[in-house]
Amino acid sequence: MSNMSDNSRRRFIKGAGALAGLTAVSSFVPVRFAIGATAPVKIGILLPYSGTYAMLGNSITDAMKLRIAQAGDKLGGRAVEYIAIDSEMSVPKAPTNTNKLIKKNNVDFIVGPVHSGIAAAMAKIIGKRKTPIMIVPNAGSNAVTGPLCAPNIFRTSFSNWQPAYPGGELMAKEGHKTAVTISWKYGAGIQMMAAGKEAFEKGGGKVVREILIPFPKVNFQAHLAEIASLKPDAVFSFFSGGGAAKFLKDYAAAGLKDKITLYGPGFLTEGVAKAAGAAAEGIKTTLHYADTLDNAANKAFRAAYKKATGKAANVFAVQGYDTGSLLIQALDAVKGDAGATADLIKAMEVAVIDSPRGSWKMSKAHNPIQDIYVRQVENGEQKLLGVAAKQLEDPAKGCKMV
Ligand code: PHB
Repeated sequence: MSNMSDNSRRRFIKGAGALAGLTAVSSFVPVRFAIGATAPVKIGILLPYSGTYAMLGNSITDAMKLRIAQAGDKLGGRAVEYIAIDSEMSVPKAPTNTNKLIKKNNVDFIVGPVHSGIAAAMAKIIGKRKTPIMIVPNAGSNAVTGPLCAPNIFRTSFSNWQPAYPGGELMAKEGHKTAVTISWKYGAGIQMMAAGKEAFEKGGGKVVREILIPFPKVNFQAHLAEIASLKPDAVFSFFSGGGAAKFLKDYAAAGLKDKITLYGPGFLTEGVAKAAGAAAEGIKTTLHYADTLDNAANKAFRAAYKKATGKAANVFAVQGYDTGSLLIQALDAVKGDAGATADLIKAMEVAVIDSPRGSWKMSKAHNPIQDIYVRQVENGEQKLLGVAAKQLEDPAKGCKMV
């Protein structure tokens, strides 16, 4: 060694150091993860980017990406790759889209969908497998955290029962005796109307007529004429996105707004109150979020979302944001090892989400246990009036994990 040139000595030291480093690394890190550690975590997204629910899909996506960007665009130290498919709100296309993300794209997680029918179709495929892990950032299908519940299926939003049941209670509490329900004829509408009706009738009310319209049709005129002739005290309704904006405008234009009080889960006015203008003002709904919630997480979130998108936040954005928070906590817990499914699931089961809606945790069926608020539209904003139900947990009927 003594007659080595300075240059070759430096090279030798460098090489020896690198070798020593390699030995140390490979003895501590499992081979599977060592290979995958440099690859990005793959997040498949199946959400609507066209049609009546496009606003919902965009709000969820923007807010989830915002949350992950706030964490340095890394999950457990690894880069993130998003592979997004427009669900087109098509139930028949859901199996093909889901299988494409699983088999062709090899995703670690699937985030989606918005639509209850698609959610059930996806859960039937994903729940039979060990991977990927599905995170539902909107669709309320009761079955997904009921009979179709599975270790690798989580929801960051709500069950259809959750915001609707307190809505029916509110309608009875405010003194109404008769009501008509009106919604789209598919999982979400059917389940929300059933929950609202059950609560309303328990409170002494009577649902005198149940109207269901093919999804996503928006020709409401004949149905509004029927409601006018039935003269109920109240109307209980679920529509969302573009369809909700149209319903609110048609309801007001038909002269019903000041005569027959309109209620429903807050999706009715969520993200569309500004566009509906005077037709939305004063409407009272129940939901797991209100724009004016006075907590630090909500204030920071609304400011960051506005800055990133130029738009006011809504409940769909909250659900996307919380999906990002859940992913961050889960992958931090396994130090980025997206293949450590059992540990990821454990981390998601115990996660506490410091959400703009208020802090929440997963139920045993993997659905948020959360407060349901009473809100009222004021100047296009969903203003908090009070709490309709504290820490409400979905009954998760038929879920074997409960
Ligand atoms: C659903 O299909 O589950 C659904 C869609 C839109 C909403 C809420 C629920 O706003």
